[in-house]
Amino acid sequence: MITTLITGANGEIGHSLLETLSSQPDRKIIALDLAPLGDALARHVHVHVQGDVSDPNVVAQLDQHDIDEIYHLAALLSTSSEKNPEGAHNVNVNGTMGLLMMARRIGTRTGKAVKFLFPSTIAVYGMKSIEEKNNAGAVTEFEHLQPTTMYGINKVYCEQLGAYMSDRFGQLTDERGAKVLDFRALRFPGLISATTVPTGGTSDYAPEMIHAAAQGKAYACFVRPDARIPFMAMPDGVKALLDLAAAPMENLTQRVYNIGAFSPSAEEIAVKVKSAFPSAEITYAPHPQRQAIVDSWCGDVNDSAARRDWGWTPDFDMERAFNEYLMPIISQVYAG
Ligand code: SER
Repeated sequence: MITTLITGANGEIGHSLLETLSSQPDRKIIALDLAPLGDALARHVHVHVQGDVSDPNVVAQLDQHDIDEIYHLAALLSTSSEKNPEGAHNVNVNGTMGLLMMARRIGTRTGKAVKFLFPSTIAVYGMKSIEEKNNAGAVTEFEHLQPTTMYGINKVYCEQLGAYMSDRFGQLTDERGAKVLDFRALRFPGLISATTVPTGGTSDYAPEMIHAAAQGKAYACFVRPDARIPFMAMPDGVKALLDLAAAPMENLTQRVYNIGAFSPSAEEIAVKVKSAFPSAEITYAPHPQRQAIVDSWCGDVNDSAARRDWGWTPDFDMERAFNEYLMPIISQVYAG
């Protein structure tokens, strides 16, 4: 029996991850979310804790379980974080620190390293100009790490915090060297789900455009037609989390991995949406601050380390993402 904690279980990745994990035998799932779980999700879950990940009383409840692996998905995304930077720091950083400490306690208690899967983001990159972005091409994990957003800063710090907590925690004390925590992070591109829409992100224009068209609603895109960042279909995001979790520790040469799938401009997404929904009405009304955030993110990622170390390869390029995942499912979602 594997005991798995999912924080932010009600969020977009949480939904898809829960559905996938629920089909696996011998798994006890503990779900944490601020909000109650809907019936569809609740039936996959053995223990539901409702509360804030940064609340020590909530962590104390979770700590009662001998957890084997944690998917720490709870976070405020980039646009929400700019609206509430202090709140973002509390959830994204203090919440993560509390869970890392809990994971160390559990690992020490059970004698088994707790796997800690952490979704990081392309928001950790910070391009100073469009020229720098265009010249950078597909960036590796170690370049252009000068984020311009609270969210990006929180995530790049927590990547390093997770590595520290796994490898060097208390390096002047006896606690060093105990293999009680095994932190692994993925830098996600913008994720696009057929069944849910994100809230509070800055890559949201792509899923918003697609879901608006599927509902016959006009959409004013908040970035310019030429804005370009990497995106991925949600099933590939979940696959990446599970594949990284399953990778033998000795194969991993780094704790943080880029993963890529496709990197369209907003206009290229709009063209694809209009070919699937010919009556879609898409206009552009760039929001200066959100445009600046997207301009600061990389245009593409180099994911060769993930491909080499744990066999990462996306199932969905843009064609397949639209034709075989998004369009067939999204039409059903709104037809119902
Ligand atoms: N989807 C995230 C956001 O827009 C970026 O990883 O905040």
